[in-house]
Amino acid sequence: MKIAPSLLSCDFSKMGEEIVRMDKAGADWMHLDVMDGHFVPNITFGAPVIKTVRKYTDKPFDVHLMISDPLKYADDFADAGADIITFHVECDSDIDKTIDKIRSRGVKTGLVIKPNTPASAVFPYLDKIDLVLVMTVEPGFGGQSFMADMLPKVKEIKDECKRRGIEMLVEADGGIGEATIEQAANAGIDVCVAGTAVFKAENAAEAIAKLQSY
Ligand code: DX5
Ligand code: ZN
Repeated sequence: MKIAPSLLSCDFSKMGEEIVRMDKAGADWMHLDVMDGHFVPNITFGAPVIKTVRKYTDKPFDVHLMISDPLKYADDFADAGADIITFHVECDSDIDKTIDKIRSRGVKTGLVIKPNTPASAVFPYLDKIDLVLVMTVEPGFGGQSFMADMLPKVKEIKDECKRRGIEMLVEADGGIGEATIEQAANAGIDVCVAGTAVFKAENAAEAIAKLQSY
C-alpha cells in the first residue's frame, strides 16, 4: 500500500521541514489539502504556498482541491509543481474542461467523491483520468472517524474499469490509521492518505512502514 501523508495535520509554521520529515520517514506521496472556505467549511492554503514548499522533496505532490471552481485555478496548481491534481465531481466547474486543462499541463488527474456521492458519478470520466479518490470522511477537517461503508465503492469503480480495460488507481482519504487500513487494503485501495495517524505518531517512520505493510 502506498501512503500519502496529509500535510493538513502538519505544523504549518514549518511546512518545509515537515515535508522533509515525511520524506525521510518513507512517505510515497505528499498529500496537500487545498480548501477554499466555500466548497468546504475550512480554509487552508493555495498554490503560492505549495510552490514555496515544492523544493523540499522530489516525492510526488498529490494536490487535493476542495474548492468550488478548480478550472479557474488549475493552471496555478500545475505551475506550483503538482504531479497529481484531484478535484471533486461535486464542484461547480465543467468536469470535462477541468480534466482536459489539467492533462494539457502534463499533470495526472483524478476525481474525488464525497461520502454521499455514488461511485457511478465518476463513470463518465474514467477514460480520461488516472485516479479516483474515495472520501472516507466528509471533507473539510482531519482527525475524523473512518466511514467503512464507503468501501464498496472501490469494488464498483475497479469492476467498471476492469470491464472497460482501464488502468485506474483508487485512493482513500480520511480516518485511515492502524485500526482501519486493513479494511481499506482488503477493499482494493492502492493509495491511502493519512494525516493524524502519521503526523501525531511518536515515530513517523514506524507508523508509515506499518501502514505500507498492508
Ligand atoms: C479531509 C482531508 C484529508 C484529511 C486526512 O478533508 O482531505 O486529507 O486531512 O486526515 P486524517 O488522516 O486525520 O483523517
Ligand atoms: Zn485530502
